[in-house]
Amino acid sequence: MTGELSPIDKAKFAAARRAAELVEDGMRVGLGTGSTAAWLVRCLGDAMREDGLRIRGVPTSTRTAELARQAGIPVIGLDEARWLDITIDGADEFDGDLNLIKGGGGALLHEKVVATASDRMVVIADIGKEVETLGAFPLPVEVIPFAWQTTRALVEETLISMDVLGRDVSLRMDGEAAFVTDEGNYILDLHLKRIGEPRQLAMVLNQIPGVVENGLFIDICDTVVIGFGDGRVEVRDLGSGTVERESFDPGEPDNLFRDIND
Ligand code: A5P
Repeated sequence: MTGELSPIDKAKFAAARRAAELVEDGMRVGLGTGSTAAWLVRCLGDAMREDGLRIRGVPTSTRTAELARQAGIPVIGLDEARWLDITIDGADEFDGDLNLIKGGGGALLHEKVVATASDRMVVIADIGKEVETLGAFPLPVEVIPFAWQTTRALVEETLISMDVLGRDVSLRMDGEAAFVTDEGNYILDLHLKRIGEPRQLAMVLNQIPGVVENGLFIDICDTVVIGFGDGRVEVRDLGSGTVERESFDPGEPDNLFRDIND
């Protein structure tokens, strides 16, 4: 992959490159999944090679593990790391309280376990991911394959009493077959359009026995690094209440693509 980046890729790259600066020598880092997180892995690999940064990474998916190894980042499991200094991951949507929808790439379970075991979770996203109210992006819910249709019926029944606009539920497919997660589970995508009470919905969904986890990340993310197509970056930190804006020259990231494919 070479040549001029599209504005969206520039935005993702700018956010990832700024977030990589938050990673310090010796840190144990949760590595997210998805196209934006892939940029981060490349940036961190670059910093290790060029600046001598030493880190260990805990990937949130087999895809990210492979990418991290290719980028030269030592990969360890979460149990070995025990606790992480920081997790940096993408998101499908974020709101003003930094509540998130995640799981568009199907890795929500490992992503939530890893983010929750971190001192700090930083989301990297292009500005198109910001929403006033969560829910336009279908909410992924990981369910066990056993009796998944019964679980879907229970999810649909649960949605009747929830403050949402849409109630369609679909099984995520991978071609002709059901999409299977790294844990061997299925994903139900909930087409809710608008989620009025995300905290309540997250709790209620997880009470359904066949549900393993849902893609609502409530009170988990501390900071969002937002990238824009012209290379600008905005860092919003919930804890300090600060907003930093920087103009960033995305430069020519071709070297980051060397032998690495999405
Ligand atoms: C993976 O399961 C997701 O949570 C991703 O982090 C999310 O879908 C964002 O992906 P992109 O960075 O590719 O938009």
